[in-house]
Amino acid sequence: MRKKIVAGNWKMNKNMQETEALLSEVSAKLPDTSATVMVSPTFVNLASAVNQLEDSTIEVIAQNMHFAESGAYTGEISADMLLNIGINTVILGHSERRAYFGETDEILEKKVKAALAKNMTVMFCFGEELADRKSDNHFSVVESQLKNALFGLDASAWSSIILAYEPVWAIGTGETASPEQAQEMHAFVRKTIATAFDQTIADNVSILYGGSVKPSNAEEIFSKPDVDGGLIGGAALVADDFIAIVKAI
Ligand code: PGA
Repeated sequence: MRKKIVAGNWKMNKNMQETEALLSEVSAKLPDTSATVMVSPTFVNLASAVNQLEDSTIEVIAQNMHFAESGAYTGEISADMLLNIGINTVILGHSERRAYFGETDEILEKKVKAALAKNMTVMFCFGEELADRKSDNHFSVVESQLKNALFGLDASAWSSIILAYEPVWAIGTGETASPEQAQEMHAFVRKTIATAFDQTIADNVSILYGGSVKPSNAEEIFSKPDVDGGLIGGAALVADDFIAIVKAI
């Protein structure tokens, strides 16, 4: 079911003590909200984050996982390992995973299927690079990212998918897509899903925007009809900024 979500992607930031301190501050300052609030610390701090937030409504999610069940994959983490410590949602397809760790659409499709097979929720990230937008290919790039990794799924899988549109040129750059650019792409994504599956699925999927969301621009971006929330990087590392973004929704 479509819902409002604000998720903090902490990336490779915050050690154990810093994680604990930031989570304490965020949960103490969390306003009453009907939105789902999620945080994603690094793998080594996930289990302690789950314990720390046991009595909180804040959900702890993972930044990545491997598609295999187990085995000789040095440095990797499986779905079962995440589930075992109480993590039910995983971010897949982040542009940094695609750009720096060679994650292709093909690998991502395997990861999505592996997570869904374990009844996990997938937050699937996609988005065009600057060159794609400049050459007016942003819609076709996004369409093929979605098609290659998600359109082979059964219709029933969509209740376990959250989408996050993150134009690569807006991530960590301070440059945000305008609320109109975000709305235009989100509407396009919904239309593409309606064509590939059906209108109900398209209407029910939550589509987050990510890329330099901050307290000063969150409200305007979130006010757009097809934007259901945000995936927040840099601003999620400062409790007051993250809380201000939660309030904006
Ligand atoms: P940013 O990162 O908010 O720092 O641009 C967003 C993301 O990569 O998820």
